[in-house]
Amino acid sequence: MPDPSSVQLHQPGSEPGAPLRLWGGRFEGGPAAALAALSVSIHFDWRLAPYDLLSSRAHARVLHKAGLLDDDELATMLDGLADLDAACQSGAFSATVADEDVHTALERGLIERIGPLGGKLRAGRSRNDQVATDLRLFLRAHVRVLVASLAELETALIDVADRHKDAPAPGMTHLQHAQPVLFAHHLLAHVHAFARDVDRLRDWDVRAAVSPLGAGALAGSSLPLDPIATAYELGFTSSAANSIDAVSDRDFAVEFAFCAALVGIHLSRIGEEVVLWTSREFRWVELDDSFATGSSIMPQKKNPDVAELARGKAGRLVGNLTGLLTMLKGLPLAYDRDLQEDKEPVFDSIDTLLVLLPAVSGMLSTMRVDTDRLAAAAPEGFALATDVAEDLVRRGVPFRDAHEAVGRLVAWCAAHNCDLHDVDDAQLVEISAHLKPDVRAVLSVRGALAARSARGGTAPERVVEQLAELRAQVADQVTWATSGNL
Ligand code: ARG
Repeated sequence: MPDPSSVQLHQPGSEPGAPLRLWGGRFEGGPAAALAALSVSIHFDWRLAPYDLLSSRAHARVLHKAGLLDDDELATMLDGLADLDAACQSGAFSATVADEDVHTALERGLIERIGPLGGKLRAGRSRNDQVATDLRLFLRAHVRVLVASLAELETALIDVADRHKDAPAPGMTHLQHAQPVLFAHHLLAHVHAFARDVDRLRDWDVRAAVSPLGAGALAGSSLPLDPIATAYELGFTSSAANSIDAVSDRDFAVEFAFCAALVGIHLSRIGEEVVLWTSREFRWVELDDSFATGSSIMPQKKNPDVAELARGKAGRLVGNLTGLLTMLKGLPLAYDRDLQEDKEPVFDSIDTLLVLLPAVSGMLSTMRVDTDRLAAAAPEGFALATDVAEDLVRRGVPFRDAHEAVGRLVAWCAAHNCDLHDVDDAQLVEISAHLKPDVRAVLSVRGALAARSARGGTAPERVVEQLAELRAQVADQVTWATSGNL
């Protein structure tokens, strides 16, 4: 697998000689400058170069198998491609803006190395199937890098949860105190979301593992090529069953952009929580200095910029998805140049997440959790009221009546500015005949937590199980991410 980190594009001011074009034959004169400026994609598609070279190698082999290259020609071609690959990586070969796109640049590079023989590589292949193949290869490699980064984030969250697995915290609905939970249970809820993101990316990979190479421009090739052989060589599990679909389809790009957008949404939700938790009003968490920023005017400020950027970048990730969908809407089959617009959004989604994820992981793993404040806040807001109502249910009171009785108890406490356990025996019975003094036995956060012991509940033993399950799941994700597809 090539290193997914992109090869840098150098744009020298002028290159000697006329630019090589892949389609010059039927045209008189070159393209207008305005057209060239519009149609050029080399400044963003150059990062597909390692993948274009890989698929060129595979294509050279099928040309050889088809008898269209002899043994010597194949050897020269493969040497030339290897040399070009090395030159791209070292920077000895660089694309120029005159190259139009990555495919043009690399054909130029090959011909510079092996002469006219380089021109044989284009037989049976079009940029249409080439670019679709390159983008799939690029994404399949980068999705693995992304999964590794997501696994690091999940591990960061799991570790924080593990360190605070006994810490009670307020559980919220509508951002109002609802019922106590373990802080770890809350953190692990986020891990489940990211674990689904990884599952989604792995599912995506199964569908993305279809090679478009061999489709040519749109109808396949009259040359005796072997698309299945190139597919396997490139780590795909099959080759496209329909050549028109092969070059028209960008579902894999859209679906990837959706997966990335949903990761962004999940990051934005945890980002928003960290913003709240670090506010003076909550003070549940303090960020480490290395993951907080200051103000240029207010010396006292410590701002949660990482969390805010996690929230903000979700917008651009959703924008990338929306842009792709809109570009595809109504596009006739097969290839249209509109499809060139597929690359920047997915590159941006990858780049955005690969910068964001480590920062969020670092912020979360270094933050200090104020477990005393969390514990003190856990029962606040009459958060044990449901426990009292459910206690009455266990004593045979219909929940409807229990809810009513405890509601009145809460109203009384709110009016008298006291807590549920401050109400004396006589007053309890006066509020409702159902409220016997022993209801106080359930007025404990620990008891409330321990009682929620069914699967999925916040009871400490369930949370310990979750920790173990999630650690195992993340280990499996890391194995997948590092297994490679080539
Ligand atoms: N740069 C083009 C793209 O990204 C490559 C395919 C060009 N195909 C064509 N028929 N003009 O889509």
